[in-house]
Amino acid sequence: MNISLDHPLFARIASDLASHGWSQQNIFLPSALTEELARDCLERARLGQLKPAATGRGVTAQVREGIRGDAIEWVERGQSAPVDRYLGLMESLRQSLNQSLFLGLEDFESHFACYPPGAYYLRHLDRFNDDDRRSVSTVAYLNQAWLPEDGGQLRLYLPGERIHDVVPTGGALVVFLSDQIPHEVLPAQRERLSLTGWFRRRGSGPL
Ligand code: OGA
Ligand code: MN
Repeated sequence: MNISLDHPLFARIASDLASHGWSQQNIFLPSALTEELARDCLERARLGQLKPAATGRGVTAQVREGIRGDAIEWVERGQSAPVDRYLGLMESLRQSLNQSLFLGLEDFESHFACYPPGAYYLRHLDRFNDDDRRSVSTVAYLNQAWLPEDGGQLRLYLPGERIHDVVPTGGALVVFLSDQIPHEVLPAQRERLSLTGWFRRRGSGPL
């Protein structure tokens, strides 16, 4: 997908990030792409490819159902046409954020996530203790016709004890600074599908 780096959507995300550290765009993914990605995600779930998500990484990775109840599968270029279009869009967003905010974002990692009814993810920051590369988190939602009473909101904890709840409506994208915005996923009444991702900077550890 060829999309100009100075597209107004990208410009809004950059200015929101610069001024308050997060951005919500209700219309980000084209609706046809949202539907194809949802179908792709459900098919992977049906084939048993989605695995219980872990917290932490490497030797410290643990599946702790009390913390998060989603099942995930990492996405890679070449897996499917809709995944490639999604990754292409996120690559344009990466370049655009680097151009306007000088963030030095080097790459992007992303997984499908499926929360069965009742699943949640307790309050956390998207930064591992032993890996500080994750800089900007993104969540693209894939469910059609999500109603507020379906639950499953993404709750952002903002400065000054404020909270902001995002209804996970298909096509919407939320972007936030990974180490600055604590957040949680509230339990949903229905299956909740998303693509979560992280733009990463070069690590500060030894080479
Ligand atoms: C995560 C996360 C939020 C969401 O996967 O780290 O916080 O709305 N996801 O799915
Ligand atoms: Mn998170």
